[in-house]
Amino acid sequence: MSFLEFLLLLLVLYYVVYVLLWILLDCNVALWYKSRFGVSLSSMRGQVVWITGASSGIGRALALSLARHGVKLVLSARRLEQLEQVQEECLAAARGLLATKDVLVIQMDMLDLDEHKTHLNTVLNHFHRLDVLVNNAGRSQRASWTEVEIEVDRELFELDVFAVVHLSRLVVRYFVEQNGGRGHIAATSSIAGFSPVPFSPTYCAAKHALNAYLLSLKVEMRKLDVSLFAPGPIATDFLQEAFTGSQGGKVGLSTANQKRMTAQRCGDLFAVALANKMDLTWCGLFPVNLLAYCARNPTLSKILAQLMTEKTLNKIREGKL
Ligand SMILES: NC(=O)c1ccc[n+]([C@@H]2O[C@H](COP(=O)([O-])OP(=O)(O)OC[C@H]3O[C@@H](n4cnc5c(N)ncnc54)[C@H](OP(=O)(O)O)[C@@H]3O)[C@@H](O)[C@H]2O)c1
Repeated sequence: MSFLEFLLLLLVLYYVVYVLLWILLDCNVALWYKSRFGVSLSSMRGQVVWITGASSGIGRALALSLARHGVKLVLSARRLEQLEQVQEECLAAARGLLATKDVLVIQMDMLDLDEHKTHLNTVLNHFHRLDVLVNNAGRSQRASWTEVEIEVDRELFELDVFAVVHLSRLVVRYFVEQNGGRGHIAATSSIAGFSPVPFSPTYCAAKHALNAYLLSLKVEMRKLDVSLFAPGPIATDFLQEAFTGSQGGKVGLSTANQKRMTAQRCGDLFAVALANKMDLTWCGLFPVNLLAYCARNPTLSKILAQLMTEKTLNKIREGKL
C-alpha cells in the first residue's frame, strides 16, 4: 500500500467512525468528548449562575447538576413553591458544598420587562457578582403553519425571544461595566432552532431568532462567551404549557410514554457545555442526533427532505419512532 493509499484509508476510517458516533451517541461528538476529557464541572465551583425557568424540567435538572459541584445559583421562574422545592433539592445534591444563602430564589415573570433590572440588582446585591446567565425559560408550540393566529406569533416571540434579549442586554451591560466585557451568556435553544420541524412554526422561528441574536452578540463582543444548547425531545412537562395556534390555547398533554431523553441527562450535558464554554451543542436520542447532523449539512438535509415526510419527522419528534 502506498503512503497516499494509507492516508486515504485513514480518512475513510475517520469518517466511518465519525458517522457511527452520530448514531451511537446522544449528543454531538464535541460535547461527548468534553464530557469525558474536557474541563471538569468543579472548575465552576464558587461561580454564580442564574438559571431562568428553573422551577421544572431542563432548568431544574441543570441546577441540580451544577449544585453537585458547588456552583452558586440563582433560580428564577413564576411558581415560587416549585422554586423553593428545587432550592432544597439543590442543597441536598450539593452535600455541604453550598449553604442556603448560596441558592437564591427569585419569583419572576420573564414577560414583565420593567422588573428585569430590579431582579438583576437583587442578584448583584446578594452575591456581588454574576458569572453566567442561562436563558432557559420558554414555551414550545404545536400547531400547523396555516392555523396560527398572529397574536400567538407575537406572544411566543415576547417570551422566547424579546424577554430573553432584554434580560441578556442588561446582564451584558453589567459584564461590560464590571468585567471589561468578560462573562458568559447561555440559552436553551432547540434543534428546531437550526433545523425547522413540522407543526411548531412560531417556535422554530423564535429559536432561530434567538440563535441569531446571541450569535451576533458574540461577533461584536469577542471576550464574551456565548453558549447555545439545543436539546431534541426531552422528557419534561413542556407540552402542558405549549402554545397552540389559537390565542390563550395550551396543548395540555403529557410526554409520559414517549421516547425522550431524561431531563437529568440533558441537564448534565448542558452543564458540561457551560463548564467548557462551548458555543453550539445539541443532544437527543437516536435518531435525533443523527438527524441533527444531517440537518447541518446542506446536501444531507436535502436527501433527508426527500426521504422523510412531515409525519415521520413529527413521529420522531414526539418520541413515537
Ligand atoms: N422539553 C423539550 O423537549 C425541549 C426541547 C428543546 C428545547 N426546550 C427548551 O427548554 C426550555 C425549558 O423547557 P422544559 O422542557 O424544561 O419545559 P418546562 O418544564 O415547562 O420548563 C419551562 C420553564 O420556563 C418557565 N417559564 C415559562 N413561562 C415563564 C414566564 N413567563 N416567566 C418566567 N418563567 C417562565 C417555567 O416556570 P414557571 O411556570 O414556574 O414560570 C419553567 O420553569 C424551553 O426554553 C424550551 O423551549 C425543550
